[in-house]
Amino acid sequence: MRLLVTGGAGFIGANFVHATVRDYPEDTVTVLDAMTYAGCRESLAVVDDDIRLVEGDVNDAELVARLVAESDAVVHFAAETHVDNSLADPQSSLRANVLGTFTILEAVRRHGVRLHHVSTDEVYGDLELDDPRRFTESTPYNPSSPYSATKAGSDLLVRAWVRSYGVQATISNCSNNYGPYQHVEKFIPRQITNVLTGRRPKLYGKGANVRDWIHVEDHNDAVRSILAKGQPGRTYLIGAEGERSNLSVLRTLLELMGRDPDDFDHVVDRAGHDLRYAIDPSALSAELGWKPKHIDFADGLRATIDWYRDNESWWRPLKDTVEARYEKRGQ
Ligand SMILES: NC(=O)c1ccc[n+]([C@@H]2O[C@H](COP(=O)([O-])OP(=O)(O)OC[C@H]3O[C@@H](n4cnc5c(N)ncnc54)[C@H](O)[C@@H]3O)[C@@H](O)[C@H]2O)c1
Repeated sequence: MRLLVTGGAGFIGANFVHATVRDYPEDTVTVLDAMTYAGCRESLAVVDDDIRLVEGDVNDAELVARLVAESDAVVHFAAETHVDNSLADPQSSLRANVLGTFTILEAVRRHGVRLHHVSTDEVYGDLELDDPRRFTESTPYNPSSPYSATKAGSDLLVRAWVRSYGVQATISNCSNNYGPYQHVEKFIPRQITNVLTGRRPKLYGKGANVRDWIHVEDHNDAVRSILAKGQPGRTYLIGAEGERSNLSVLRTLLELMGRDPDDFDHVVDRAGHDLRYAIDPSALSAELGWKPKHIDFADGLRATIDWYRDNESWWRPLKDTVEARYEKRGQ
């Protein structure tokens, strides 16, 4: 397959490209990435000779049309993904997430190319801590932040292009990912690199917020299954039954790093902070036979900590700027 991977220099996209080169050597991979602050050439250094990296914006309709015309399928990861940044600058999220997806959709429509659109469980809003329900494909959309609202908008565009124009597209909504190559602004890498740089980890509010953690390799494995066997027009929820409060993640992380589990600071909570996300992944398992492989969270977290310890040159140049930005917000 000739694959066009948008946002392939970001966290999940880069891991997807690594897995494709390793497990599907017959595929060809073109990455289209605008190289925003979140994109990193270094993340693709190990596959440099195996792929084509095009620096460009998913809003560049001419470039997108040309690359799509040369492809059999597009896996669309590119987005502005940080909730805090979307609160500070919602327009960038709107542009990348909604207009960017529109541009991709117009190109796949014109050239009859298969699309897989990568989205998030945050489009469903949040659940109470004691709510017995979890998110399914039929949960109504109820986004809370500019990030999740723009991802929701992009999903709805994909659904409309399937229905109105017969575009061959699937959507996946996944829970919170962790693993190597994640930007140090995000929760788990931020805490790991805080410890590694002699800073104290920071916890929003009381840390009661629950996220449903999945290893990035499991997410990408599911995306690959959907690409191969998913039914166009369908939405698939990807999760690994990994619900944990932020407090419990932080305490586990500190223990794995040989620290006192209470050695962290509480900081100002995020505005409108979603309380709990929880995915019911049973439809994906039943239909496509997908199952997560990284089911021991502590093991996955230990390997992630080791990766950040061994790859300081990858994250060190970003760290001070990110922390300065958080400090300005009192976080
Ligand atoms: N990280 C998670 O936990 C998670 C969970 C579920 C879904 N997702 C979704 O997965 C996708 C990838 O997330 P991530 O965590 O890897 O994000 P990331 O922020 O690490 O990477 C995003 C990439 O997209 C690129 N990009 C941004 N705007 C662009 C534009 N206009 N044109 C071209 N490239 C652009 C960036 O340069 C970067 O390389 C996103 O669509 C996100 O909504 C993420």
